[in-house]
Amino acid sequence: MAGACSIKRNLVFIHGSGGSGALWAYQAQYFSQAYHVVAVDLPGHGRNRGEPINTIPGLAEFVISEILRLGLASPIVAGHSLGSAIALQLALDHAEALSALVVVGGGARLKVLPSIREGILTNHDAAVESMASYAFAKGASKAVVDRAATEMRKVSAETLLADLDACNNFDVMQRLGGIQLPTLAIVGQEDFMTPVKYSEFLKAGIPGANLEVIPNAGHMVMIEQPYLFNAALDKFLSLTFPRGRSE
Ligand code: COA
Repeated sequence: MAGACSIKRNLVFIHGSGGSGALWAYQAQYFSQAYHVVAVDLPGHGRNRGEPINTIPGLAEFVISEILRLGLASPIVAGHSLGSAIALQLALDHAEALSALVVVGGGARLKVLPSIREGILTNHDAAVESMASYAFAKGASKAVVDRAATEMRKVSAETLLADLDACNNFDVMQRLGGIQLPTLAIVGQEDFMTPVKYSEFLKAGIPGANLEVIPNAGHMVMIEQPYLFNAALDKFLSLTFPRGRSE
């Protein structure tokens, strides 16, 4: 049991393309009691007015500099989609600074359909709407999909293109064996953008990695099934840090 003077373990969330830290609201609410939760806004997203960064290594350097700036010792890093690539890059380049890795709707390679990029150049609004519709399981309500599209429209076309270019050039398929952190991959069973196959590849390639497939969820699994998602993450963290949630 954690002592009176114990410090909460740090849990850092990294959002996906066209998103912001606000996408982790359900997780921030659930995990904040036991963990020190930080949901970063990448440059050009949410409240971060910085210039967009169009490579995963560049984004990873931004996140590690935030981790150091905020004095977050040995955080668990959880990333979604674009954020999953950043988390994987951090696990490869800065493992000594982290304590665990959570890959949500992710993959070791994240090629983007060329038509999505072209759509953003020609009709930003329509492309965002189409991306939002693909991001959810078939049963998702229109209101939820529309809300996601509204949030994504707040991110400029320039930033969204930078996000997609970063994904498109990301490939660590051959490097997964070098990841030595406790790892959990979580994916929605109906994820069309990063299919379950991508997470199975992560489980097979990262030594000791765990995989949770969440039913009735698509690419936005953490907001589509927050209860199941949080339970899966909580279980992994409890098993990984059995002596408690504090350092
Ligand atoms: N993990 C495991 N397998 C992967 C993978 C990953 N991260 N990425 C690709 N693969 C597999 C593919 O499934 C494919 O397997 P197959 O030959 O058995 O069918 C093979 O590797 C080749 O894939 P890829 O190089 O991506 O070329 P592709 O022509 O199959 O696909 C796209 C290109 C863009 C059509 C495809 O990646 C796609 O549909 N992406 C989803 C839509 C999207 O844009 N998502 C955004 C991600 S942020």
